[in-house]
Amino acid sequence: MSINKDVKRVTTHVIQEMKEKGEKITMLTAYDFSMARILDDGGIDVLLVGDSASNVMAGHETTLPITLDQMIYHASSVVRAVKRSLVVVDLPFGSYQGNSRIALESTIRIMKESGAHAVKMEGGAEIEESIRRILSAGVPVMGHLGLTPQSIYKFGTYTVRAKEEAEAAKLLEDARLLQELGCFAVVLEKIPARLAKQVAEHLAIPVIGIGAGPDVDGQVLVTHDMLGITKDFQPRFLRRYLELFEEMKKAVQQYAVDVRSGGFPNEKEQY
Ligand code: KIV
Repeated sequence: MSINKDVKRVTTHVIQEMKEKGEKITMLTAYDFSMARILDDGGIDVLLVGDSASNVMAGHETTLPITLDQMIYHASSVVRAVKRSLVVVDLPFGSYQGNSRIALESTIRIMKESGAHAVKMEGGAEIEESIRRILSAGVPVMGHLGLTPQSIYKFGTYTVRAKEEAEAAKLLEDARLLQELGCFAVVLEKIPARLAKQVAEHLAIPVIGIGAGPDVDGQVLVTHDMLGITKDFQPRFLRRYLELFEEMKKAVQQYAVDVRSGGFPNEKEQY
């Protein structure tokens, strides 16, 4: 299906309408100006300034080290590139869990200093107060359930979540709560496809999946993974559309050959 050219700017209302019409929502991560321009121009509906920047851009093992200042830097670079996409920014670990006042302060900094359109937060009932406070300030919130990488040391592994009945029931309950509170959408990460389908059917708001099967309202991937820039990360749910690590390596190797041989620059590439 082609992108809806009538939509000049994707808003939370636009993605709600997409769910109601059964149109799939596209979402990818972006952390910098150049990539965000490509994704926006390519018609991606939602750009997520994910805290996966901690892994992808900074080389950390987890998402925990990234700071609020660093997220704001990434988000403002993305916002400057965007003409159509909705820009959603992850609240980083430590900026919202446990204290709703701090959660609101962190959100206000993101919104004021980056110009982004919404925030995303990991968790359900345990962060209810923070979500309420942010929503009451008029900032749209996207939820995130299932595998929530900010809690990796609680889970111990990055394996599929909610396979057991009790965890699946809690996830469904949390998803209902997020909708009731007023979240505009929910991301479901790495859970059984059957459970994700059930959540998407139960909720009136859009459900975006990553490793959650096809029966949700939209899909999100980490752009560097789907382009094959990060070559060692190969979960089952990931489809690689390019092998850019190898392509880029070939290009830089050719550049080095040309420089070393004196073949670059040639007579047309000088003044
Ligand atoms: O940070 C991120 O990239 C995310 C996606 C995996 C949904 O939260």
